[in-house]
Amino acid sequence: MAEKGKFQAIKGVRDILPPESALWNRVEQTAREVFGTFGFAEIRLPIFEPTELFARAIGQETDVVAKEMYTFVDRPEKLEEPETIGKYGDFITSIFRKYQSGEIPRNGYNEFALLEMSKSWDRFKSLEHGKPVSHEEFDNVTRMLVLRHSLQLGPEVSLRPEATASVVRAYTEHGMQILPGNAKLYYIGPMFRHERPQKGRYRQFYQIGAEVLGASDAPGIDAEVIEMLMRLFERLKLKGAILNINSIGDKNCRPAYVEKLRAELNKVREQLGADSQRRIETNPLRVLDSKLEHEQAIIEKLPRIAEHLCDACRAHYDEVKRQLGLRGIAYQENWRLVRGLDYYMRTTFEITAPGLGSQNAVCGGGRYDGLVELLGGQATTKGIGFAIGTDRLILSLQEAGEGAVQSGFDVYLAWFGPAAQVAAIGLARRLRDAGFVVELPAVEMKFGKSLGLADRLKARHAVIMGDDELAAGVVTVKRLSDGTQQKLSEAELFSYLRAD
Ligand code: HAM
Repeated sequence: MAEKGKFQAIKGVRDILPPESALWNRVEQTAREVFGTFGFAEIRLPIFEPTELFARAIGQETDVVAKEMYTFVDRPEKLEEPETIGKYGDFITSIFRKYQSGEIPRNGYNEFALLEMSKSWDRFKSLEHGKPVSHEEFDNVTRMLVLRHSLQLGPEVSLRPEATASVVRAYTEHGMQILPGNAKLYYIGPMFRHERPQKGRYRQFYQIGAEVLGASDAPGIDAEVIEMLMRLFERLKLKGAILNINSIGDKNCRPAYVEKLRAELNKVREQLGADSQRRIETNPLRVLDSKLEHEQAIIEKLPRIAEHLCDACRAHYDEVKRQLGLRGIAYQENWRLVRGLDYYMRTTFEITAPGLGSQNAVCGGGRYDGLVELLGGQATTKGIGFAIGTDRLILSLQEAGEGAVQSGFDVYLAWFGPAAQVAAIGLARRLRDAGFVVELPAVEMKFGKSLGLADRLKARHAVIMGDDELAAGVVTVKRLSDGTQQKLSEAELFSYLRAD
């Protein structure tokens, strides 16, 4: 328990404070502007969704779904509670039915509680009427009531670990396939993964993502999505970003490659670490992601997907590369870039940025043509997109010295005396209306203290209003960087501030 008055943000989540928050706003605003020029519009998505949506889209065996989701059982919508002990039999039967149909979570906990409740009910039912109830029988009923209140009867939901699954759900739910052209959507917001926190890795982190959904899988779409990303990074002056690309094939060619990879991995099984050994069965492609030093030489000798792509996938990949060339976008091919989410096919890409240590992927994305169908939508719909890790983008900008944000006040309006306060309130309003950032002290202060505060707030100018200024119809303006001072009328003040 936290001591009284000593709360702290929980592990892996953090506050983003001013002035850093101004940098976040600038990054997000620039993304809105750049994405807007490519015809993308914002989609605002729920923070939580049915767990099943993520499990199906991202894949049950992935780290994200198997280990990292924040999952909880919501409250049930409506439940007929048994009014008396005698009604518990019907209650248990109806809950059992809901359990079997999947209406309430099919987890080990509910299964245990339901079985134990049934046993207690059977025992209670067999009691002879009119006989005094023993302590043991009383305990049996109490146990049934306790178990009832521990049942998890609501639907199972999860905080979103990513947003592509939600975009695809929304696309189908709102019938966006009938819209002309491709649906081009972007989102900005927090995601949640229970990972081990470190620099650039948090449990609540932020993404700026974009998705294109529609009937076409033209490689020009892949290239344009990447071009849009690179334009954003250029506008933000992110230096040293490296684009890695790969093609991981499709359902025609990948299964054969995966089997070949599995066979080769089995031959070197004993030399691999525990994680990679497990992945030989669950997802051999992920072995290629391994960062373990001693596995690197082994991985380099494994068969490469590029040599096993079917003709259609190879042609698609070649054309993506040609289209990137047309746009003057430099890239590195990285045959080991397989990504950690199951929905990808064909194009995958990742962008690394300097200054981030081991968590250097600032953006990841790829094509996911089968996902709409997998989530119950139209089989012909194709998709591609990416998500930028905003926390990492900001870190990289800061490390490169591009994180500075102009903060502070244009004007500190120091007033002295009640009449000057009235005038200062009016002037502050007119200055703010004109877009200047104004600090107006709420109480009167001694001259030295007030100007000292103006300095500490790093205001650009102090505007001084006292009885003398009021009588003369002017204000005194002091430029705080060099102390130069002059008396100006209000009209002159406005032109001076604009020009300075
Ligand atoms: P992802 O690679 O899982 O892809 O995440 C994208 C980016 O989010 C990563 O490159 C990284 O910058 C950032 N990120 C991920 N986990 C964390 C974390 N724990 N802390 C800080 N940053 C993190 C996706 O999420 C896909 N939905 C991208 C996508 C969109 N693919 C197609 N469309």
